Amino acid sequence: MTHRIAVIGGDGIGPEVVAQALTVVRAAGVAIDTTDFDLGGARYLRDGTVLPAETLDELRGFDAILLGAVGTPEVPPGVIERGLLLEMRFALDQYVNLRPFVWPLPGTDAGTDAGRGSAARAVDMVVVRENTEGSYAGEGGFLRRGTPHEIATQGSVNTRMGVERCIRFAFELARSRPRRHVTLVHKTNVLTFAGDLWQRAFDAVAAEHPDVGTAYNHVDAACIHFVQDPGRFDVVVTDNLFGDILTDLGGAVSGGIGFAASGNLNPARTGPSMFEPVHGSAPDIAGTGTANPTAAILSAAMMLDFLGEADAASRIRAACEKVAASTDASAPGLSTAEVGARVADLV
Ligand code: NAI
Ligand code: MG
Repeated sequence: MTHRIAVIGGDGIGPEVVAQALTVVRAAGVAIDTTDFDLGGARYLRDGTVLPAETLDELRGFDAILLGAVGTPEVPPGVIERGLLLEMRFALDQYVNLRPFVWPLPGTDAGTDAGRGSAARAVDMVVVRENTEGSYAGEGGFLRRGTPHEIATQGSVNTRMGVERCIRFAFELARSRPRRHVTLVHKTNVLTFAGDLWQRAFDAVAAEHPDVGTAYNHVDAACIHFVQDPGRFDVVVTDNLFGDILTDLGGAVSGGIGFAASGNLNPARTGPSMFEPVHGSAPDIAGTGTANPTAAILSAAMMLDFLGEADAASRIRAACEKVAASTDASAPGLSTAEVGARVADLV
């Protein structure tokens, strides 16, 4: 079966890392038929458009979307993030942002105590970030903008349906993992309206899953645990804003941003899901051939899992681990293309 993949390389290092991901997918023997979409900051600067309605409609017809990164320093903040990334997540109902963190990668030197020091703990967790609501929903506005009396509000939208389906996904995911544990992260002591809805939805879904253990952390405490004791977490479920910030931290404590993969999932499969590395377009290193493509390759592996190609996905993950193990993490000497070629060789 040939999977139809929409490819959005995007800006900066985006196209560089996506090219390696596609090489690896093909090397793994998966039949894909790709269509490139020219979207992102560079396109916006060229013709002033972000995501035309007909392009969005065209994207609906694909089995999945693979995205590198979008955004350029010349484009004002919000134009690409809201107009393209959030628009696709919302319009295609990709309501779960799934971000797994595994570190040290099994088989790497860093996996030994000598490699990481005795304080280091293994990380093997998945963050389930709500991806269509919260303070990213776009609720709010200005009054008297630009005057001394201006007001800006930015509300947080939390629907029982939206929160519950995300929590439900987290519990089902936990059931498929050996530890069977879900931690809710919020700020229920201060955000008493949204927090109350989240807590009640969490408790209700937990009651239906007596075989899954639960915990709760305030988001500030969760930040401490992510750094000092990330090994305590299995599945973490949280709202859009907290999840955005926590997952950058998750990447930082599990190998760095060059390894962090993500999927924007539409679990109901009423539209294509979108897979992308957590990192951005890294304009500071674009064109130097030094970007680590591993995050994009692992994102493509998540895509294959979602498309029912679990065997190829696990071979790709194993190949990434081998390449990471053979590289000195403190002085990564391989170019973007070399990493891609080595992973492709081993897959
Ligand atoms: P960034 O993730 O692009 O870069 C942060 C730092 O990490 C930089 O020093 C960069 O060189 C490094 N880095 C990132 N990916 C790397 C990789 N694969 N290998 C080696 N080093 C890597 O975040 P930043 O600088 O905040 O944003 C740059 C642009 O990317 C902005 O326009 C931003 O809006 C956009 N962005 C897009 C995202 C997306 O497409 N989903 C996500 C985050 C940012
Ligand atoms: Mg982020």
